[in-house]
Amino acid sequence: MGDIDPSFIREPECRPQHTLNEEGIPVIDLSGMSDPSAIGEIVKAIGNACKEWGFFQVINHGTEESHAKVDAVSRKFFNLNKDEKNKVRRDIVQVMGYYDSEHTQNSKDWKESYEFVVEEPTLMPLSIDLNDNQIYEWNNKWPQNPPEFREVCKEYAKVMETLAFKLLEYIFMSLGLPPKRFHEFFKGHQSSFVKINYYPPCPSPDLVLGCGPHKDTGALVILPQDDVGGLEVRRQSDGEWVKVKPIPGAYVVNVGDVVQVWSNDAYQSVEHRVVVNSKKERLSTPFSLQVPHFTVVEPLEEFTNAENPPKYKPYNWGKFLAKKKFANFQKIEGESIQI
Ligand code: SIN
Ligand code: FE2
Repeated sequence: MGDIDPSFIREPECRPQHTLNEEGIPVIDLSGMSDPSAIGEIVKAIGNACKEWGFFQVINHGTEESHAKVDAVSRKFFNLNKDEKNKVRRDIVQVMGYYDSEHTQNSKDWKESYEFVVEEPTLMPLSIDLNDNQIYEWNNKWPQNPPEFREVCKEYAKVMETLAFKLLEYIFMSLGLPPKRFHEFFKGHQSSFVKINYYPPCPSPDLVLGCGPHKDTGALVILPQDDVGGLEVRRQSDGEWVKVKPIPGAYVVNVGDVVQVWSNDAYQSVEHRVVVNSKKERLSTPFSLQVPHFTVVEPLEEFTNAENPPKYKPYNWGKFLAKKKFANFQKIEGESIQI
């Protein structure tokens, strides 16, 4: 079993075997974004990819420079010693920051992460009780070292936010909706976050996962990765795991549960996971676009009628997120808290 801590070892049926090395998810060129006559083709390609895969890659998105900076500063941060990183360790009060203890299913993920919210502070419900309207703040824990970390991350979040709103606009258009239809859900606020994932090389990559199978809960995720590879997507047509081959400069994009609910299942939020390797570290820097805490998420009226009733009950986004975050904490850090 090698020398790895047993808490990382997956059950035999959940280990990363049987991945297909086949044609990957569609690649969509965004260089026509500023040309109104090219938008139709982009929207069509996005719609087809969302239906077939729930995932696609974009190239020529115009944000390469900002991503290169965040990639570089993140490597510097993760290469610091544990004591230094632990200075910004997340805790039950400040749920953003550094951690190395995330679980998916019952095993630990082979990774370290640093997470920050885009809107600072992000307002969140204090309780999951629907009648309790008390609000508290999620703030970031910025490290002093590397000194440029905060500035680079904030700049990255800004450019990714703009790209994410543009992509959500195209996704809405591909569903036959007015491009600005989603603006009413954001109303100047959001609960979006950036998660920087660092996957160290692993002596027994066949026994662990960098990130276990999961679906993303927000509206949309833009996922830049380096050239190492490891992300795998569950193909909807046959349930097989398919590798996402890294393309230099490309970003992976996927729709999350909120788009699945809004579209009443026209688009699906698709399961994905990360495998690691014994030779190379890997870095990914996903931006997750999320509605503000007060939003009620439910199927849009455009997708429901007498023959096609809503497949989901309305839910309060903030309460849902708070519950998930706290449940995660109870599991990870072994703390017991009142929610
Ligand atoms: C994730 O889906 O949470 C991470 C994916 C990746 O690192 O590629
Ligand atoms: Fe994910």
